[in-house]
Amino acid sequence: MIVPESITITDNRTGKSIEIPIENGGVSSAEWSKLLPGVWFHDPGLTTTAMTSSSITYLDGDEGILRYRGYPIEQLAEGSTYLEVAYLLLKGELPNQTQYADWVRDVTHHTFIHENVRKRFLEGFHYDAHPMGMLVSAVAALSTFYADAKQIFDPEIREKQIVRLIAKMPTLAAAAHRFSVGMPFVYPDNELSFPANFLSMMWKIAEPHFEADPALVHAIDVLFILHADHEQNCSTTAMRTAGSAHSDPYSSTAAACAALYGPRHGGANEAVVKMLNEIGSIENVEPFIKSVKEGHGQRLQGFGHRVYKNYDPRARIIKKVAYDVFEVTGKNPLLDIALKLEEVALSDDYFISRKLYPNVDFYSGLIYQAMGFPIEMFPVLFAIPRVSGWLAHYVELLDQDSKIVRPRQIFTGQGERKYLPMDQR
Ligand code: ACO
Repeated sequence: MIVPESITITDNRTGKSIEIPIENGGVSSAEWSKLLPGVWFHDPGLTTTAMTSSSITYLDGDEGILRYRGYPIEQLAEGSTYLEVAYLLLKGELPNQTQYADWVRDVTHHTFIHENVRKRFLEGFHYDAHPMGMLVSAVAALSTFYADAKQIFDPEIREKQIVRLIAKMPTLAAAAHRFSVGMPFVYPDNELSFPANFLSMMWKIAEPHFEADPALVHAIDVLFILHADHEQNCSTTAMRTAGSAHSDPYSSTAAACAALYGPRHGGANEAVVKMLNEIGSIENVEPFIKSVKEGHGQRLQGFGHRVYKNYDPRARIIKKVAYDVFEVTGKNPLLDIALKLEEVALSDDYFISRKLYPNVDFYSGLIYQAMGFPIEMFPVLFAIPRVSGWLAHYVELLDQDSKIVRPRQIFTGQGERKYLPMDQR
């Protein structure tokens, strides 16, 4: 009798069949291989392959649902701080008051970076170095400062690297920015909260103590929460791939940062700002939408998502945050164009039929720009909180005792050829 939650595969070459149970929405490739050794799934971009099982983030793209460890993103953004969410991602539970106080103390204790990282390493970059390029390299360099990081199966040592990474990301990020604009480095102010300290390191000039507007501090905290994890995205997959080779947490995080550096991943909000600038005024919105629909190679940036076929829940939250920020900074003049674009697109059959809705990047760039962040800092701002998600996946991966990532290929090159010495070619 055939089990209802299963598939049956028949190899027509041999007539042999195998029945594979469907478990948690997936089928085991190991079972498949029993019947078809040497026949591989051809899945470029891993669009239909579950590379792992995970209990960190749940995403339902059709319904527009995002949950970290079971908690809806809307509730976390409303009630938690980023550090609370980082704790949740890493440890599986929200902290109680004592756990939270200890966690904040530990992270705050590690915000400083080694003077050599700053003076010798960061200051060695070319004067116009891209801050994300600096961040990728600086994170990798940290592994050489903490040699014990190689002991990845010692829980205490591993925890220490996790705390260090979460704590030092804002410091490295701000240092990269200050260097790229020729401003002196600002040391962490451990009297401040995690997001307030980051803004202080970014913007402080001559004042003895810099405190950003609370609305901006809150906005950064919410944006950090929204960007903390997004299950098996490109950079998380890079983290898991490097981690599967048992690379240390810094080197693995550098691999993830490198993936995030790519314009297809961490650069979409930059593309939105550029697009809005090019559109220039509300009157140009309708013609722009028309040209997108006619398919002149243009896309409506910040719209559509590989997984979300509904309104990205993060975009909804961000839109609200944008108004809070603009109360302080003044409205970003690009907002009206963005709102009009959204209105026109959401009532147009082209976008409706393809289920194209605003994604997280549609409004985040406008917020960052209004707060004074240069466009080059956008991927860096993404990386600061995503490190907690990456590390949660890294820990999960090591606890799963998973295999090294080593996919197969469909070889399409030459068969064996006779080698000719150079003078005969
Ligand atoms: N504007 C116009 N048309 C679009 C858009 C868009 N932004 N996105 C998809 N489409 C159309 C495609 O042309 C295609 O139409 P067709 O069926 O007539 O050929 C259809 O919708 C499906 O598009 P795909 O490219 O197959 O969808 P996919 O899931 O591969 O792409 C992606 C998702 C890359 C995000 C895409 O929607 C896109 O390019 N969006 C703009 C860039 C962007 O905002 N990226 C940020 C994503 S969020 C993040 O990474 C943090």
